[in-house]
Amino acid sequence: MKIIIMGPPGAGKGTQAEFLVKEMKIPHISTGDMFRKAVKEGTSMGLEAKRYMELGQLVPDHVTVGIVKERLSEADCSESFLLDGFPRTVSQADSLEKILESIDVGLDSVINIVVNREGLMKRLTGRRVCKSCGATYHVLYNPSKDGDKCQECGAELYQRSDDTEETVTNRLDVYEQQTAALVEYYEGKGLLHHVVGDLSVMEVNKEILKVLGSV
Ligand code: AP5
Ligand code: MG
Ligand code: ZN
Repeated sequence: MKIIIMGPPGAGKGTQAEFLVKEMKIPHISTGDMFRKAVKEGTSMGLEAKRYMELGQLVPDHVTVGIVKERLSEADCSESFLLDGFPRTVSQADSLEKILESIDVGLDSVINIVVNREGLMKRLTGRRVCKSCGATYHVLYNPSKDGDKCQECGAELYQRSDDTEETVTNRLDVYEQQTAALVEYYEGKGLLHHVVGDLSVMEVNKEILKVLGSV
């Protein structure tokens, strides 16, 4: 199955993707995770991406589309994948369509997780992420059973540098200005399914599985 999971920063894309890729055994393609890895490794692409991520701005389309194209051409993506955080502009969505046409595959479903803006700020400023395995927690809504250590692998948890109130505000504005238009874009293609994201993590997961079971 070829799926896009979209929604504003903090909607729960990564959290839900973690469950879905385990349940469905499909590759998880998160452009945010790919950029963070490149930043950590200090590659030239990472250095370029970092300038934008720190400000809560989008990394330029040619860089982003390039890494997605490369990833989608790998063998494990020929049957199924879950895209998380890509596309984020209409131009990226058009590029994705061309990439998929060139490898002769089509999308099955686009899941849009809907959460109100106030909720998003709280989710992002309280988020903690495992340094080693990437598991996502929240100090109040989804704390690790092992305090400031990951309950999956025992590694330390950290706060993402773009999860400050100021950068989150920029990211939410950028979402409204540049990404929200994709809701209409995929509605027009008959692929979009809205999921209420204000429920518990497991309830949202159930809702998504219900939607995917019906496509
Ligand atoms: P990216 O990493 O994709 O960040 P984002 O879109 O801002 O989304 P987040 O990862 O912050 O949120 P999420 O929806 O995954 O929420 P999560 O599950 O973690 O991108 C980062 C940056 O990279 C961008 O700003 C940009 O610079 C660049 N970039 C990436 N892709 C790009 C692209 N395509 N083009 C250009 N630039 C790009 O959950 C958040 C918190 O809420 C967690 O603490 C979690 O525990 C909690 N939570 C989750 N679900 C629930 C629930 N149901 N109830 C209560 N709490 C919950
Ligand atoms: Mg994420
Ligand atoms: Zn971990």
